[in-house]
Amino acid sequence: MRVCVVGAGHVGLVTAAVFADLGNDVVCLDIDQDKIAALQDGQVPIFEPGLSEMVLRNQGAGRLTLTSSYPEAVPGAEVVFLAVDTPTGSDGRADLTNLRAATAELAQHLSDEALVVVKSTVPVGSGSIVRTILEENCRPERAFEVASCPEFLREGSAVADCLRPDRVVIGCSDPETVAPLVRLYAPLERPLLFMDVNSAELVKYAANSFLAMRISFVNSIADLCEEMDADIGQVIKGISADTRIGGHYLSPGLGYGGSCFPKDTAALASFSAEAGCPFTIIEAVMEVNRQRIPRFIGRLHNVLGDLKGREIAVLGLSFKPDTEDVRESRSLELVQALLAEGARVRAYDPVAVPAARRVVRDVRYCSNAYEAADGADALVIATEWNEFKLLDLERMGDLLRQRIIFDGRNTYSPSEMKDLGFQYVSVGR
Ligand code: UDX
Repeated sequence: MRVCVVGAGHVGLVTAAVFADLGNDVVCLDIDQDKIAALQDGQVPIFEPGLSEMVLRNQGAGRLTLTSSYPEAVPGAEVVFLAVDTPTGSDGRADLTNLRAATAELAQHLSDEALVVVKSTVPVGSGSIVRTILEENCRPERAFEVASCPEFLREGSAVADCLRPDRVVIGCSDPETVAPLVRLYAPLERPLLFMDVNSAELVKYAANSFLAMRISFVNSIADLCEEMDADIGQVIKGISADTRIGGHYLSPGLGYGGSCFPKDTAALASFSAEAGCPFTIIEAVMEVNRQRIPRFIGRLHNVLGDLKGREIAVLGLSFKPDTEDVRESRSLELVQALLAEGARVRAYDPVAVPAARRVVRDVRYCSNAYEAADGADALVIATEWNEFKLLDLERMGDLLRQRIIFDGRNTYSPSEMKDLGFQYVSVGR
């Protein structure tokens, strides 16, 4: 099938690569010409396990084409995915400027009976906006359909998630109108859930906000554990054994970050208030998340006192492991808070140093964890990359000026750290 994907960001590029890999003829379009030139040159600008190989393989096989040209990408496509970014506007609402512009542009080149599928995360009612823009900009004889198909992939496991989604949510007026989309997803053999477009759009916000709520909930319980001399690990073991609760999204730490949870919770809070139905739970979820870094900094104060002039080594800069993405990274927020307190920061991350350097300059970026620790007053673990789990802690202890570790991700066992002579501060233990 001929498919067009508008937007070569995380969602767009992964979607394009996966559908090309399934044997379709896919054109992926982005107006960022530098990004397209790099991709055409075989450089995949996103660190995402398995993506680079998949993009190159399908480019080589002629099934995946990258372009900045709408006339090249859109005509002939049976399905056109809209996967442009919808950033948070100043009022917390999703900014649809890019989506509107892309829709108006593609309308002029749309083939008859094309199915336009919105993959971007968009507020409820956006499907109608897309339809109106298409009607205003298409030639009158063109017939087209608009559907919603929100994406649930996670960074760091995007290819695997896209190939094996728990469910595919399809918002449409009638399943018959989305037959090409059903054909496209059929080889994945995953459950397809058909519903109206507004409900499909709301599913995305509800799912992400629910997961964010679990994280803020467990972080609040972790705070309580610290005050009451209980162990969050044991509490999680106890609650997650209840099959009604389960164990997903219950890891305590520095809070959630990334390009989705902060944005989607803010958007849900904003559009629900506007609808006269203020979502007070989500306001609390966001507030708990905002307090994570100030609270953690407070724990550094308890041990180190004034941070002015202190050398702090920070391990992990991306918002989570297996990605170079530092958007809304709690780790970078922590680094900035340390700098604001007058601390000197040296930092290391397996892949996110270049991205972090663009955001925060006054940091000594190091090429490994040991270099970061050498001579520092304390070590902070901010992102739980696998390679931090197996650090040579004896060596770390010898390199640090004092054996003090603040662990924002509960990487090590407190008793082992005690045996190694560390003063070890972790979350909820
Ligand atoms: C999320 C959704 O999971 C995905 O379905 C959606 O399509 C996009 O947003 P992503 O942002 O890639 O995916 O990351 P995810 O793995 O969900 O983690 C989000 C944040 O929550 C990270 O900062 C992570 O560190 C944090 N987190 C996650 C916790 O603090 N505790 C947990 O138990 C789980």
